[in-house]
Formats: sequence, structure tokens, C-alpha cells
Amino acid sequence: MIGIDLKATEKFIQEEVWNRNIQKAYEGLDLVLTGKGKGNDFLGWVNLPSEIGEPLVENCENIVERWKGKVDTVVVTGIGGSYLGAKSAIMALSHSFSYAMPRQHPQVVFAGQNISEDYLAELMEFLHTRTYAVVVISKSGTTTEPAIAFRILREDLEKRFGKEIAKERIVAVTDARKGALRTLADREGYATFVIPDNVGGRFSVLTPVGLLPIALAGFDIRQMVAGARKMQEVCSEKNASNPAILYAAARNSLYLSGKKIEILTNYNPKLQYMGEWWKQLFGESEGKEGKGIFPASVNFSTDLHSLGQYIQEGERIMFETNLLVKLPEHDLKIEKDLDNLDGLNFLSGKRIEQVNKMAQLGTRLAHTDGGVPNIVIEMEKIDEYNIGEIFYLFEMACGISGYMLGVNPFNQPGVEQYKKNMFALLEKPGYEGLTQEIRKRI
Ligand code: PA5
Repeated sequence: MIGIDLKATEKFIQEEVWNRNIQKAYEGLDLVLTGKGKGNDFLGWVNLPSEIGEPLVENCENIVERWKGKVDTVVVTGIGGSYLGAKSAIMALSHSFSYAMPRQHPQVVFAGQNISEDYLAELMEFLHTRTYAVVVISKSGTTTEPAIAFRILREDLEKRFGKEIAKERIVAVTDARKGALRTLADREGYATFVIPDNVGGRFSVLTPVGLLPIALAGFDIRQMVAGARKMQEVCSEKNASNPAILYAAARNSLYLSGKKIEILTNYNPKLQYMGEWWKQLFGESEGKEGKGIFPASVNFSTDLHSLGQYIQEGERIMFETNLLVKLPEHDLKIEKDLDNLDGLNFLSGKRIEQVNKMAQLGTRLAHTDGGVPNIVIEMEKIDEYNIGEIFYLFEMACGISGYMLGVNPFNQPGVEQYKKNMFALLEKPGYEGLTQEIRKRI
């Protein structure tokens, strides 16, 4: 079970601030569970783990079976909430060098998460050496980045394999009724999965948006759902051992004491994209109305050699949340070296992980001494069950935290602004007025 430790925050939080925020966290949890808060039409994620039924899991497994032995690569096409959950879970669960290792399951690669011509052109070069299928994911069905990528992928699949085979090799994950992707999928007869209306993109990893790509990469989505289900139980409890309550109360207490930036740290590069997923979750949920903690992430010990200096001695405006793993999967010891030129024989016989753990403890001590509070969230190990737990824990903490801040945690009005300007600059029909106006400003 995931544990949370707030010891390294205590000296930074006054008792009365803590007591007030714990109370506010309970109120936030109540709003999430009763559906009486802002944005309550997007609370479908709350009961998702307990509601995911056998048919959905089986449908994902059917696609895995359909493509088994026929495709060696699956291109998951999506952006933001339609990308980061799957990417973070697959990266966490995969062998670090899986791209170069013999494999039983297709390699999952991503498209539509940027508008880089180089990326897409090189992806197509790569795919021309492979036999691939596509999972295109877009709730709105109209997002520019995945739509551009999917246009190119679909055309290529149809050209290389013919329309009938292409149809077998495209699955769409989208709205039940509306959007261009739904229209196209129905017209072409693609297999489809539905993203529930009441689940927003960044809360959708436990829908087919995350589950299908994760299953295709060869991971056990039943275990992931089981972990999320356990965490759903734990996070619904109105007591002080609920980690979502503790996390939300701690981060808001620190925010009120002037810590405006939260850095999610990991000491295992497999968790790098968990940081990316977490940044979207909290950034889009809380950053509005001139408020919100700015979510950042670093990979330690790598970034101790780049950002460590700033964290230790720069502006005192940040706190850290350490996302730690109790047990590594492997066991590798440092050997004795007869010459000992590097002076490291004092480590001989020790596991690499012991060094990593001491780096964690040493860093936490140094950073708290330097005025950077540390929250610690520790999972048992990196597996499907624990990843399911961590997804749900962060989602619930985010819902509670957004309500504590007084914002609607489930909308993202600010995301539209750049899109309007981009469409106007690209002379999209309907944007003529804005095109004239912003051309004068650039
Ligand atoms: O959280 C969100 O709502 C966004 O990040 C969306 O997930 C992202 O913009 C992709 O949207 P869509 O799934 O509609 O293509």
C-alpha cells in the first residue's frame, strides 16, 4: 500500500494552518464524494475503478488478441489527457531498454503529442520498417495535433495495406456520439471505445484512453484497476490516514506559507513520465483565477547535478513531493576493485539501491535544511497494482485540493487561448476577424 510521510514538512507548517487545512481537505473530499462542488458534471472518475466492468477489460484484451502476431508496433495518437496516462504507465512498467530488447508484445510509440514535422517524418520513416496499427484517442475528436498525425497515419496504412486491412488496424477511442473522430470511425467501421462524458481528459487514464494502450503494451490492466479500486476505498475514508486528505492538506498548507512551486521528484527514471502526467493533472486543474501551485518535476539523482543548486539555495518558493519506490525489481551489487582508484571500495558489497536510498535521505535532509519542505509518497514497487494506486491517489488529491483552493478543478478555459491565435494565424475559415487583429500585433 502506498504510504505518505509528512515529517519533513512539519517545521514549515504552523499547527493552526495545518488544522484549518485538514478541515478544508475533509470539506473538499465531501464535495468530491457528494458531487456538490464546481464542475460536478466531470466527476465520473471518482467511481471509475469500482465501476470498470469485465466487458471493457475484455474488449481491450480482444484488440490485443486481434493484433497479436500481426503487428509489431502500435502508434497511440493523442495529446494531453489522451496521451500522458498511457505513456507514464508504459514507461514505468517497461524495461528501460525495451525498444532494443526481444519482445512478446508490440512496441507502443506515440504520435499527435506535438506538431513537430521532424518527429512525424521520422516516425513515418520508422513505421516503414514495421508492421503497425493505430489507436487514435481524442475525446473531442477535433484536437489539431492528433488529427494531423492521424490523417498521415491513416493515409499511409490505407496506401500500404489497402482499406480493408487498414480498417482492421485502426481503433478509435472517442466520445460516444459527437466529434469528427466519431463520425469518421462510424463511417469507416473502425472498432471504437467510448470515453465517458463525465470524465475529463486528465482524469481519463482508467478509461480505455489509458487501459487500451497499456494492455497493448503487454501489461495487466486487471491489476491496475485492482490497485485503483483499493485506493478508491482508502481515499473515500474521512479520517487522517487517508493519503489524499494528507497530501492535499500538506500542499495547501505549504502554498499558504508562500511555497508556490511543487516539484515532483523521483529517483527512478522509469517514473519520469509519471511527473509529466502529474503536472498536467495538477496544472490544468488548479492553475486558474490567478491562483494555484505551479507543478514542476525533476529526475534525481540526474537533476541534482543541474537543478540541485537552485533547489538548495535559490528562491525559497518551492517544496518537493518525493515519489519513491520501496523495492527495486533487480538486485545489483557494487564489487570490490583491487586498485580502488575511484576510492569506492567502501561501497563494495552494497546494492546500488542502498546508495540511491542514501542519496534520497541525504537530499531530503539537505533540502529541508535549505528551506525546502519535503512530502514523501512511497509505493511498494513499480508494478501495475501500484501504478493503479498512484493514479487514483493523485486524482483524488487533485480534486480535493482544487476545491480547497476554491476553483473548479475540472475545467480548463485557459487552454483555448493559444488555439484561437494559432487558427487565426493559419487562416482557418471563421477566424478572419481575429487574423487581421493579431497580424497587426506580431
Ligand atoms: O485534460 C484535458 O482536457 C486536455 O489535456 C485534453 O486531454 C487534450 O487537450 C486532448 O483533448 P482530446 O482528447 O479532446 O483530443
